[in-house]
Amino acid sequence: MIIISLLVSIVPMFGGGPAWAVSAGSRWGADYFPNISLVTQDGKTVRFYDDLIKDKVVAINFIFTHCSDSCPAETASLRQVQKELGDRAGRDVFFYSISIDPEHDTPAVLKEYSQRFRAGPGWTFLTGNKADITLLRKKLGLYNKDESGQVTSNHSISLIVGNEATGKWIKRSPFDEPETLVRLLGYSLQQHAYRTNPGAMRYDKAPRLPELSRGEDLYRSRCDSCHSLGAEGGLGPGLSGVTEKREHAWLARWLKEPDQMLAEKDSVAMQLFDKYNEVPMPNLRLSDADVEALIAYMAGSAGHAEDVMTTNDEGGAGH
Ligand code: HEC
Repeated sequence: MIIISLLVSIVPMFGGGPAWAVSAGSRWGADYFPNISLVTQDGKTVRFYDDLIKDKVVAINFIFTHCSDSCPAETASLRQVQKELGDRAGRDVFFYSISIDPEHDTPAVLKEYSQRFRAGPGWTFLTGNKADITLLRKKLGLYNKDESGQVTSNHSISLIVGNEATGKWIKRSPFDEPETLVRLLGYSLQQHAYRTNPGAMRYDKAPRLPELSRGEDLYRSRCDSCHSLGAEGGLGPGLSGVTEKREHAWLARWLKEPDQMLAEKDSVAMQLFDKYNEVPMPNLRLSDADVEALIAYMAGSAGHAEDVMTTNDEGGAGH
């Protein structure tokens, strides 16, 4: 009996032991993560497990800086999450954006990219060896099989958030409402907060999510990180009155393929681009129905978002 139990406890020490030995622990145990070397935008070499995730609450995504569609939108929405977490970013929560095109994305290129998006403290951009990064993506379940080694914009547009100490990991879309991510990273994943203040996250105290129209839902998850519905600009222009200012056809095409219109040097698009030259508006791969829903939403709410909420509340009985 003694011999058998000794054997069982020793086997996992021979790294990469049989599957049954691994399954005794968490799938996300320390042994699971490749402890690869990565280089930060400031040229510092760090280890993925030891320096970046051990004992931390983290959000990790994969990007490449010359990606024109999903990545800028992802980066902009993460920026909003980071802003909302305020000084907790870099203290309680750490953000990592890792390049899937490390040959092109040198530390200097990443630094310039992070500045363009005005990424704040607690957010590190990383590059490294391509094979290592691919392995990491596979291990994190953020590798898209169709890529076959190509850097494409259909790379997995997912984000993984987790707490290494508790082994709790959740795959999210960066297009989740920033609020949802703020709540996950700032509260649900912070195990200690739970313990010291058990009433804080009571189910019956959870705020009720308003019922959203398709247009509002899309707007909040895809557009809000760069635009406001008022006059003031963010990474992109304020959208107050835009449905009156622009022809419907122009607007619809712009939402559908801004990259194409910029490539064709459409005059309105170029004027806007000159003014907001840090980031181009990304092609968000919207369907025609999505585009119409968004235009209807912008027409109804630009400049007076509060009214929409009230209408929703009153309209509850109609559903
Ligand atoms: C990554 C940031 C970003 C995201 C996300 C984004 N935009 Fe933009 N948008 C811009 C920028 C920047 C411009 C200005 C043109 C340029 O520089 O490409 C712009 C321009 C526009 C314009 C033209 C404004 C005008 O005065 O004519 C509209 C309309 C617009 N965006 C709507 C949207 C909608 C709707 C969404 C969501 C589906 C969205 N944008 C998502 C950055 C973004």
